[in-house]
Amino acid sequence: MDKAVSIIVPTYNERDNITPLVERLHHALSGRAYEVIFVDDNSGDGTAELASALSAKYPVKVIVRKDKRGLASAVVDGLSRASGSIIGVMDADLQHPPEVLPELLREVDSGADIAIASRYVKGGGCQGWGRVRKIVSRGAIFLAHLLLPSTKRVKDPVSGYFAFDRRVLDGAELRPTGFKILLEIIMVGRFHKIAEVPYTFGTRSGGESKLSLRQQIEYLKHIYSLMRRSGELTRFAKFCLVGFSGVLVNMGLLWLLTEVVGLFYLLSAAFSIETSIITNFTLNDRFTFRDRRSAGVKSFAGRLLKFNLVSLAGLVLNMSTLWLFTEVFGVYYLVSNLFGIAVAILWNYLVNSWWTWRQ
Ligand code: GDD
Ligand code: MN
Repeated sequence: MDKAVSIIVPTYNERDNITPLVERLHHALSGRAYEVIFVDDNSGDGTAELASALSAKYPVKVIVRKDKRGLASAVVDGLSRASGSIIGVMDADLQHPPEVLPELLREVDSGADIAIASRYVKGGGCQGWGRVRKIVSRGAIFLAHLLLPSTKRVKDPVSGYFAFDRRVLDGAELRPTGFKILLEIIMVGRFHKIAEVPYTFGTRSGGESKLSLRQQIEYLKHIYSLMRRSGELTRFAKFCLVGFSGVLVNMGLLWLLTEVVGLFYLLSAAFSIETSIITNFTLNDRFTFRDRRSAGVKSFAGRLLKFNLVSLAGLVLNMSTLWLFTEVFGVYYLVSNLFGIAVAILWNYLVNSWWTWRQ
C-alpha cells in the first residue's frame, strides 16, 4: 500500500484554475490515498468558497488566512493540517502540470527523501520565457549556490513543485519569507537522497503571476536569513578575522625585515605579503573552511596554489578600486582604499569559497 500524500497548494486569486487542478490531480493520483490542502490568503475572487464547494466531491481541505502572508508561509500553515506521510507542494495555476506528481511520488516511494520537479535537469525547461525572466531565474539559483553552498547538489533549488517524506522536517524549524519554501527545506531539513525529475514549467492559464520586484527583495532577505541560521555568516566573519590577523603578520614582518634584518623595504614587503598569504591560508583551512577541505597533501598544495592566485587577483582588485575612486570619483585616497579593501575581501571570500574550498 502506497503512503498517503497531502498536496499543499497556496492560492491567491486562482478561482479559474482550481477546478481543473483538482480534476487533473484526481485523475493523476487514481488509486492512491491523497488530500489537497488549499491555503488561501483571503482571495477576493472567491477562490476559497469554490475550494470549499469542491470538497463535497473531492478530498479537499481549505485553510483561509485573514491576511496575505505569502506563498512560503502558506505552505508552512498547510503542513500543520496535513495528515499524509508524504507531502507534495505545488502552485494552483497549472504551471506545474499535475501529471508530473506521480513521477515525484514514485521517487519518494522508492527511497528519495525529497523529489523535485526541476526545470534545470536534462529534459526540463520553461515555456514561453523571455530573456529577462530566464536571467532572473538563473541569477537567483546562482546566488543560492554561491551563498548557501550546500544547495549546490540541487539544480533547481527554487522550484515550487516537489514532494518529500515528512520526516525530513522532524525537529526542523521553518522560518521562510517570500516564495521559496523549497530552499528553506533544503537548508533546514534532514535528508540523504534528493531526486530531480525534469518537467516543463508551463504558461499560466488564468489569473496573473504574483512574482514581483518585492518578491525578489524577499528572496534576498530569505538567503540572508538562511546564511545567518546555517552558519555561513559566521564563516564570513571568521574569514574577516583571519584576514585581519594577516594584516598584523604582514605589517610586523615588514617592520622586522626592514628595520632589524636590514632588507630593502620592497623586498621585505614581498616576503611579508607572501608569508601573510600562507598564514591566512593555513588558518582558513584549519578554521574557516574546516568542514570543506578534502584530505591529502596533494589537495592541500592545490588549495594553497588556488588561494595564492585568488589573493593576487584580490590585490589587483584592491588597487584598481583605489585608483578608480581616487582618480575618477575624486575621493580621498585613504577612504578609497577602504572601498578597495571591501571589494577585495568580498572577492577573496566568494571565490575561495566557490573554488578553493569548493563543496
Ligand atoms: N496563500 C498565498 N499567499 N498564495 C500565494 C501568494 C500569497 O501571498 N502569492 C502567490 N500565491 C500562490 C499563487 O496563487 C500560486 O498558486 C502560487 O502561489 C505561485 O504564485 P505565482 O504568482 O503563480 O508564481 P510564479 O508563477 O510567478 O512563480 C512560481 O515560479 C517559481 C519558479 O520560477 C512560484 O511557483 C514558485 O513556487 C516557483 O518556484
Ligand atoms: Mn505561476
